[in-house]
Formats: sequence, structure tokens, C-alpha cells
Amino acid sequence: MECKRVSGALGGLITGVDLTAPLSAAVLGDLKQALLEHQVLFFRNQALSPEQHMALATAFGEPQYHEAYPHAAGFPAITILENDRDNPSKIEVWHTDMTFRACPPLGSILHGQSIPERGGDTLFASLSAAYESLSQIMKDLLENLVAIHDFSFGFKESLAEPGGRDRLAQMVIDNPPVEHPVVITHPESGARGIYVNPLFTARIKGLQKTESDALLNFLFAHMILPEHTCRFTWEKDSIAFWDNRITQHKPVNDYWPQSRKMQRITVDQGLRPSQR
Ligand SMILES: [Fe+2]
Repeated sequence: MECKRVSGALGGLITGVDLTAPLSAAVLGDLKQALLEHQVLFFRNQALSPEQHMALATAFGEPQYHEAYPHAAGFPAITILENDRDNPSKIEVWHTDMTFRACPPLGSILHGQSIPERGGDTLFASLSAAYESLSQIMKDLLENLVAIHDFSFGFKESLAEPGGRDRLAQMVIDNPPVEHPVVITHPESGARGIYVNPLFTARIKGLQKTESDALLNFLFAHMILPEHTCRFTWEKDSIAFWDNRITQHKPVNDYWPQSRKMQRITVDQGLRPSQR
């Protein structure tokens, strides 16, 4: 197995591994280590069947079930993400997945099934690179701050659509606002990262609204400086596997009138992001 770093901040392109075959304990250990080091891993030419996709995800943790989304026939944990001009992606902003939960997922394994001729890249940013490039004074300021992450904030446009509030009523009830530290520590690598995102972070607790808005807007802009990011251009049967505990991502929705189809398994971890 070889791994080539794709940018200064994060991203490893792995070669010499066949993800369609069962992984040996040694290869699985190498992949876990590579994920900690590079934060998002990329693979080419991995024509995963749904069974193989499930086996791969299960090696890393418990696949999450999303009954609300379309899924591969017979595989409720394999979410289908299919977008074209009539059904564009609703996600336009940078985010870490599901930070509205007390225990957000460990990561996701995304498989490119039908890829536009051009466009449709995915951008990734390292939460630890963003933290490390702050001044010590700013790090000290953020150290004990707590932010409110809110499903209803992230889905406010869907909730405002006709019928949206009824469709999402149970999700709203099941997902009251949660608190996470603004600076978290990765549970395995010990890396520290800035844990806010413009999709789900509603405000910083204890600050006046103008203070919270100003600080969050600074952090959102700082976190996606090019020096903190990498960009992945998809091919059919490419895989991206990101560590959701130390990255954020953004789809680039620039491929109309072409379409894009991906399949994704999200892996749970059962851990609350911690400050130390
Ligand atoms: Fe996402």
C-alpha cells in the first residue's frame, strides 16, 4: 500500500489496496493509521458492490441507517445521492456532517457511481490545520468557548418549504440543539481542531449576537483558506473516506446539465466531541 499526500493540509491518495476484497488486519491497521494522518483518504478504480461497500464500512464502525433517504435496494445503510438540474443538491455550504447530534459520526465512505464529464468535485478542509495556524491569543480566546449546533438551523430552508415543517417534524423533535466545544481534541490522534461550521453552528454560547456572528464569520472564513484545504476530482469508482471528527467538506455543484450519482455509508462512533 502506498499513500501520496495531495495537499499540504490533508488528503492521502492510496494505491495498492483492493477495497473489493476482504481487508487483512494489517491492511486495515494501515488504513486506520493513514486516515488519522491524512484525515481524508482517496482511492481510484474500486468497483464496490453494495455488499463490499458494507463490509468495508463495517470494518471501521457501525453503519448508520437513514430511513428518510433513498437507499440501495436491500441495503438501508447505503444512501443514494443523485443530483441533476431538476433535483439539485441542497447542500451548498461547508460543513462537518451531523454536528447537530451529541455524537456526530466517525466518518463517511462515498463511492462515485456516475460522474459528470466535468465539475462535481468535493472540497475538504482540515480542522486541525485551521486551528494550528491561529495565533496563540486567538487559541486562548477560543479555548473555553462552547457553541450551539442545531438541526433546525441547518435545515431552515427545508423547514420553510411548503410541507417541510410537517415532513421534518419528527427530526426536529429528535434533534434538539446540542452544545460542542469550539475547540475539540480528536479522540485517537489527539489533534486539536476548530469545531464550528456554517451549516449547523447557530451561535457561540454566552456571547452577544453581534460578537458571536463576528467570531463565527471570522472562523468560517479562516477554516477554508486554501492552505487548509484539498480538492478531489471524481472518476467512476473513486472512493473518498473522510474522518468527520477533524474535517469539513463542501460539494461543488457546478455540473449542470449533467448529473452525478454517489452512494454513501456513514459510520457511527458513539463518542461526544471532547475539549481535551
Ligand atoms: Fe456532508
